[in-house]
Amino acid sequence: MKTASILAAAAALSAPALGQYNTGHGKKLVTSKALQKLINLDDLLAGSQKLQDFADANGGNRAFGGAGHNATVDWLYKELKKTGYYNVEKQPFVELFSAATVGFTAAGESYAAAYMTYGPSGSVEQTPLVKVANIGCTAEDYPAEVKDKVALISRGECPFAQKATLAKAAGAVGAVIYNNIPGALAGTLGAVGNYAPTVGVVQETGNALIAALEAGEVLVDLSVDTIEQNRTTYNVIAETKGGDHNNVLVLGGHSDSVFQGPGINDDGSGTIGVFAVAKALTKFNVKNAVRFAFWSAEEFGKLGSFHYLKTLNGSISGSAAEVSKIRAYLNFDMIASPNYVLGIYDGDGNAFNFSGPAGSETIERDFEEFYENKGLPHVPSLFSMRSDYAAFLENGIPSGGLFTGAEELKTEEEAQLFGGEAGVALDANYHQKGDDINNLAHDAYLLNTQSIANSVAKYAVDFKGIPRPNATLRKRSADSVRYLARFDHGSSHNHAAPCGNTQRVSV
Ligand SMILES: *[C@@H]1O[C@H](CO)[C@@H](O)[C@H](O)[C@H]1NC(C)=O
Ligand SMILES: *[C@@H]1O[C@H](CO)[C@@H](O)[C@H](O)[C@H]1NC(C)=O
Ligand SMILES: *[C@@H]1O[C@H](CO)[C@@H](O)[C@H](O)[C@H]1NC(C)=O
Ligand SMILES: *[C@@H]1O[C@H](CO)[C@@H](O)[C@H](O)[C@H]1NC(C)=O
Ligand SMILES: *[C@@H]1O[C@H](CO)[C@@H](O)[C@H](O)[C@H]1NC(C)=O
Ligand SMILES: [Zn+2]
Repeated sequence: MKTASILAAAAALSAPALGQYNTGHGKKLVTSKALQKLINLDDLLAGSQKLQDFADANGGNRAFGGAGHNATVDWLYKELKKTGYYNVEKQPFVELFSAATVGFTAAGESYAAAYMTYGPSGSVEQTPLVKVANIGCTAEDYPAEVKDKVALISRGECPFAQKATLAKAAGAVGAVIYNNIPGALAGTLGAVGNYAPTVGVVQETGNALIAALEAGEVLVDLSVDTIEQNRTTYNVIAETKGGDHNNVLVLGGHSDSVFQGPGINDDGSGTIGVFAVAKALTKFNVKNAVRFAFWSAEEFGKLGSFHYLKTLNGSISGSAAEVSKIRAYLNFDMIASPNYVLGIYDGDGNAFNFSGPAGSETIERDFEEFYENKGLPHVPSLFSMRSDYAAFLENGIPSGGLFTGAEELKTEEEAQLFGGEAGVALDANYHQKGDDINNLAHDAYLLNTQSIANSVAKYAVDFKGIPRPNATLRKRSADSVRYLARFDHGSSHNHAAPCGNTQRVSV
């Protein structure tokens, strides 16, 4: 299927801006068609531009609890409140934020280097680099000459934190840890400690530095500019005033970005898609209550969504009363990836042998039908537990959602199905500065937001095919999700790694 025909299918449903609709009294019960009609690309892009502006005005990011993210949260809150249609809440919580700007040059050449989370600030210039012996897991590996110099250390065997601690103990003023396997090195020191300023580099950089050291002295500039703060941040939760509050559809995406960039696809696209549907829904009546959630601190380990479920009465350890009212959860984390696939979470487990709680198969099937009715392709997407649905799966709540892809490369088969470029990342700007207003596939953005509208309209009227789990059933499916989540699903499948910092490694 060519991209162009997807766009045509989506455009056929696009419509005048929201304001042109008569809001009158006596609202009608929502229908899929009517709700989808209110979704249009101009509104979506205007929303994305808002988020871009918030980032631009505040250091280029919307990382949780910073000014760019605060502006995002306040805007969502204000806009939803203004409709009068929702009860809107800002739910506060506090988490430790840690990020840094890093710079690394060796022998005059600049190399990409990654911050190791929880590492301290520090800056040295024209300082000799010294390779430590073996893999730097014992004090003996650090030669006396590393004092006041920058230690070059291989990844392997012991935690990064141990290497960064030993480097500091040996008097090193910085540590550069290079990967011992191909691929990026996104590392964490695990907790605050007594470390030398530490960065991670890829294996090729490590090899280049070793070769340069064999040829003679190598002088490096290394700077780590760390921010470490306990930050107060907010989930924004908006629930329809109308509808049955004992039978609630919850849907959401995360409102924060990574520190490295503005996060306009991840997850500005999910944020604005969900927000656009929330605005459109105000023109209708619902039978079941609908709760829109904008989670904070997803990029630090899905902190907002887990906090939310912990505080609801009845997470598994509690009375189950509040959790039991949630009949389904829909997650939208990246819905407009520039080289997209149309991914639907594998609720029935038939693609990845990892299913959601009973009812998740209906949610998956309902999404599939939306695309199939337009003659459009779709692919299953693994519940990798790397986005906010994880908290819902762990509470036994039937879940589903859409995902257009992150750093994984597009396969030939996917290129044939969806157009775009095989061998190129589904989102080449994933978690980077380039995830900006130009990093959106407009056709996928519109289509997937219409798809959100379709599911919201359906479940706002009827949870047909999605059983109401009793406490026993809910606990059983939560236990089985937790059990299965221990196994690594990531390596052998595509679409296994959306966002969330959980993939940061500590060894
Ligand atoms: C963001 O909001 C939090 C909570 O209200 C506040 O404590 C913090 O100072 C704000 N940060 C900035 C940079 O404005
Ligand atoms: C954050 O809060 C924790 C717990 O109160 C405290 O131990 C820690 O020192 C604080 N960290 C920073 C950077 O303020
Ligand atoms: C949870 O239960 C407690 C005690 O019954 C009650 O005070 C509180 O309001 C409940 N919270 C929610 C979110 O329902
Ligand atoms: C699917 O997962 C179950 C564990 O839930 C396992 O027992 C079974 O062998 C798996 N099947 C396949 C085909 O991998
Ligand atoms: C919960 O549902 C399951 C499956 O339908 C059933 O076997 C079980 O008896 C139910 N438990 C309670 C406490 O109603
Ligand atoms: Zn994300």
